[in-house]
Amino acid sequence: MTDSTANAAQHATPYGTLPPASPMPNRKPISLPRLQEMHARGDKITMLTAYDATFAAVADAAGIECILIGDSLGMVCQGLTSTVGVSLETMRYHTESVARGLHRAQATAWVIADMPFATYQESREQAMRSAAVLMQAGAHMVKLEGGGWTTETVRFLVERGIPVCAHLGLTPQTVHALGGYRVQGKTQAGAEQLQQHAHALQDAGAAMVVLEMVPHQIATELTASLSQCATIGIGAGNGTAGQVLVLHDMLGLNLGKMPKFVRNFMQDGGSIRAAMEAYVAAVKNGSFPDNTLHAW
Ligand code: KIV
Repeated sequence: MTDSTANAAQHATPYGTLPPASPMPNRKPISLPRLQEMHARGDKITMLTAYDATFAAVADAAGIECILIGDSLGMVCQGLTSTVGVSLETMRYHTESVARGLHRAQATAWVIADMPFATYQESREQAMRSAAVLMQAGAHMVKLEGGGWTTETVRFLVERGIPVCAHLGLTPQTVHALGGYRVQGKTQAGAEQLQQHAHALQDAGAAMVVLEMVPHQIATELTASLSQCATIGIGAGNGTAGQVLVLHDMLGLNLGKMPKFVRNFMQDGGSIRAAMEAYVAAVKNGSFPDNTLHAW
């Protein structure tokens, strides 16, 4: 035992402080090749949003593989009514907080940061500059919304060494253009466009794609047709390569009507960590999401 681990074991730490040297995690750091191996083996990938040091470290300890600093923080932390108002500086601040928490807890999760609205739409160069801010704040991968026009931006970033997660289906930054938080890809034309966008993004080098609010049959077919790009579903049924939820939703911290695709994992767990562990177990064993309850 090192001096610092001994100290951490002897003294309770206030304010939820993370031990300066927590026990070494029993898993290897999650890297892009490890995620690709999981995808190839058919092991479900777990992703959860976190916006600060403590929640990120606890999520890691609960076994979450990918922590997403989602721009949903605009809604759950900042009280905005959509993600459109989130700035790059805010994303940088929260990414740095998460990365610092993970580092202090000697955590191993893969860290993905959302590129906020209007920080990548203008040009590939603008996207590169914005991605650099998030990578330098501690992200391992950036996520950006949209298909078609984003393909060349994704290629540009990937060719320059920045791992990219795409985001298709319901893309919250364009909620005003979409007319609300509605299921996407329901029509034949919509489903074909989803297929075409996802394959173009895979060809451009996107290693993951979040599929949000997409009929489960469409998401399952798309998942099977993508060999290099892991689909991460939210409201897309249980046929995707992995799942993501917003932290506050899965902890039941929602005063409004919970979206159909959410399960409140706090209901059965006695602690936040237990709720996160239950989420990991349910995704891994395929019991969440349940297509009859949480999908379209
Ligand atoms: O911002 C976010 O949290 C997200 C998830 C809903 C996937 O993009």
